[in-house]
Amino acid sequence: MSAKHSRPISFEINGEPVEILAAAHDTLLEVIRYHLRLTGTRQGCDKGDCGACTVLLEGKPVLSCLTLAAEADGCKVITIEGFSRRGEHLHPIVDALDEAGGSQCGFCSPGIILAAAPVVESGEPITRKQAAEAISGNLCRCTGYTKIIDAIIAANKAWLATHSQEDNS
Ligand code: FES
Ligand code: FES
Repeated sequence: MSAKHSRPISFEINGEPVEILAAAHDTLLEVIRYHLRLTGTRQGCDKGDCGACTVLLEGKPVLSCLTLAAEADGCKVITIEGFSRRGEHLHPIVDALDEAGGSQCGFCSPGIILAAAPVVESGEPITRKQAAEAISGNLCRCTGYTKIIDAIIAANKAWLATHSQEDNS
């Protein structure tokens, strides 16, 4: 990044405030991987086709390769490093992918997990169609998707069970 044509942007990533110099053309993916060295966010196609670079921007999944870093200015960003653990526990989608065999080489998994997060945590039972739609922009070369959808359904059930217990306690 050339400092000459850069401007400071500040945002929160995985709960930590950061301020960096970003050029107007820098993508959020470039900043996350090459500036902040958070390499769990994958660089696949780099043109919006594979979903591997998905992160949460203000709680919504976005393709970080198509998002300018400047768009994150003043926002909250969550990457897989900040999402996969909730305190002492793994997020239920991480366990569910493991148990269902929904992650093989693992390249797509961070993007799948973050793309599925809103439906897993929706607070309502979801259908297989909703699970499939949530990851419709994510390519997986290994699993054939059925096991990923199984995992999303299982994670949604686990999320509901945990949160209804919390509500009743
Ligand atoms: S790397 Fe962003 S969609 Fe493929
Ligand atoms: S597990 Fe290999 S690309 Fe999805």
